[in-house]
Amino acid sequence: MLQIIDSLEAWRRQRGALGRKNLGFVPTMGALHEGHASLLERSVAENDVTVLSVFVNPTQFDQSDDLARYPKTMDADRRLAKSLGVDYLLCPDGREIYPDDYAYKVTESSFSRQLCGIHRAGHFDGVLTVVLKLLNLVRPRRAYFGEKDFQQLELVRGMVDAFFLDIEIVGCPTVREADGLAASSRNHNLTSAERARARAFPRLLRSSKRTDDIARRLEEKGFRVDYVDDIGGRRFGAVHLGEVRLIDNLPLPTAIERVASQEEPS
Ligand code: PAJ
Repeated sequence: MLQIIDSLEAWRRQRGALGRKNLGFVPTMGALHEGHASLLERSVAENDVTVLSVFVNPTQFDQSDDLARYPKTMDADRRLAKSLGVDYLLCPDGREIYPDDYAYKVTESSFSRQLCGIHRAGHFDGVLTVVLKLLNLVRPRRAYFGEKDFQQLELVRGMVDAFFLDIEIVGCPTVREADGLAASSRNHNLTSAERARARAFPRLLRSSKRTDDIARRLEEKGFRVDYVDDIGGRRFGAVHLGEVRLIDNLPLPTAIERVASQEEPS
């Protein structure tokens, strides 16, 4: 039975009663889709109890209009959680999560300065800080993160190691829509014409072209490019289409295989 908990006091009581059970934790910002569902399914399969959090974390948004526009689909989220066998849905209030008004924060000073860190000031401080708070509140055995946000996954792994947290961070593969676009809550905000054009983003990222050629082709197709970069054996991209920012990444051998088969993306 899904229990919905919106106060930390109520959660602390529940957590106390769960004692030494193995908890699996899936932190999200809601507007759940197939990508989130894959993390939840895995947690339900691997743990005694699964906790889902839905918290649109204000400190990781560098643009207030992006925060205001972030889609909210709480009824559907609750139904999905219930259908997947999730035990707890935590939806805490911002004031409860930040009793210190964000005076204390976690800063990583190397990888967080690259890729999305260059284009979204303070974003990863906000992410790491809220993830640390949530991990301390939930005290899970395992926490599940998607490879879709690969830089976030790596930074969370690094934080868990750096602060000796006894939690296994489980990375889960990117779930894609039928045309290859990575599932994302932000896809809700694309117009139907933009959604049709968006498929060119994963297709071009996968191509055998050089990163600067890919960026140029994306710009020609009407995307505003934040970056297309190869780092540590992966290719990373971030673009804007209309009001929506899309990110994606893939291991580089995928791109190399394309070279071998001479496949040309459109
Ligand atoms: P959110 O964007 O809601 O994503 C929650 C989790 O779902 C993240 O681990 C993300 O990588 C994963 N995810 C999103 N789309 C996915 C896809 N297509 N395939 C697989 N996994 C996917 O990421 C956040 O929220 C926040 O930064 C958070 C970690 C909750 C901190 O506020």
